[in-house]
Amino acid sequence: MQDSHTQILNSLSNRDNLTKLDTLGMMDLVLGFPKQCRDGAAISWQYGHGSTAQTDIRNVVYTGLGGSAIGGDLLRCLADEYGSIPIIVNRDYTLPAWVGPSTLLLAASYSGNTEETLAATTAGLKAEAQIAMVTSGGTLAKIGAAEGCPVAIVPGGQPPRTATGYLFFPALTYLQHRHFLRKDFQEDSEETFLVLEKMAKEYGPDVPVEQNPAKQLAIQLFGKIPVLYGSQGYRGVAAYRWKCQFNENTKIAAFSNVLPEQNHNEILAWVLGEKQASNWSAIFLRDPKEEELQPRIATRVAVTKELVSRTTPVHEIFAQGESLLARLLSIIYMADFVTVYLAYLYGICPTDIGYIDHLKEALAKEVSK
Ligand code: F6R
Repeated sequence: MQDSHTQILNSLSNRDNLTKLDTLGMMDLVLGFPKQCRDGAAISWQYGHGSTAQTDIRNVVYTGLGGSAIGGDLLRCLADEYGSIPIIVNRDYTLPAWVGPSTLLLAASYSGNTEETLAATTAGLKAEAQIAMVTSGGTLAKIGAAEGCPVAIVPGGQPPRTATGYLFFPALTYLQHRHFLRKDFQEDSEETFLVLEKMAKEYGPDVPVEQNPAKQLAIQLFGKIPVLYGSQGYRGVAAYRWKCQFNENTKIAAFSNVLPEQNHNEILAWVLGEKQASNWSAIFLRDPKEEELQPRIATRVAVTKELVSRTTPVHEIFAQGESLLARLLSIIYMADFVTVYLAYLYGICPTDIGYIDHLKEALAKEVSK
């Protein structure tokens, strides 16, 4: 079995085979991610009437769903470390009751047509929040133009979950423009692009299984239910992104959690987990500096891994790079390769999101009745 998987993955070094399995070109988008991040960082804002002063803003709410929300999660991780005001990520039709004139609402929808994001934006207008937007167009761009909001228009036409660079980097530029981050990210961005470019070379389809850790992990995960554990902080966000990429690209169930919280409840799930299903597989997402900077977390990971490994295979993925930005983006980038290779192993199109489209169509019909 393992050998036939290896054969399938090795046959993907042949571009013709890849085109057959990946008719909508997901792997090309994955390989293009480093360039997309560079391009995303260079996207210019139409600042509209938006203020550049930070004094009147006390909090930032980033609102979006799915692939567009992840940009907010990444932003929050940076703001937790370097921000001067709090940022939360909202994934709903509604906004918290405290949103008002001293809130900066960053509305992000790649398509510009996601109904929850549009409703939250309308709620933000009503609450007199300052609103800025990242989108490729749609109704959100129209609202932005009508209201004179600062808007970053990003290139459209690809699945939102592959557009993280287009969604995240302009939002980062905007927070910098408003002086809400106590750091200039130019150097860190350059480091990040180089780390991602190196990863694209090391994990790409032309690299055979024996030298390709992403292909090797995909093979090991075939038939398994991945459980992602972020060791702490931003690795929790990464764990959720990995889970969503397994869901959307591979079309399989996956679950995520983060330490130390996991140690206080979910750790006990491994006592009888085998009785529910015998095919779990745990993946710990870690930071290379953990042992040195967070020894208590390193000890927690070691003990948790030992307990989980009594019944289940355990894998570890380490973030790469020096800066927080590079570590954050590198650890989520690996998921793109693994989840697409695993889709190939299952013989499923990584791009297709039939059930999401079906749901959106059903909701649209309901509105037009
Ligand atoms: C599809 C994807 C979805 C969308 C979500 C919201 O690739 O990632 O999770 O991101 O349905 O749509 P947008 O991003 O257009 O607001």
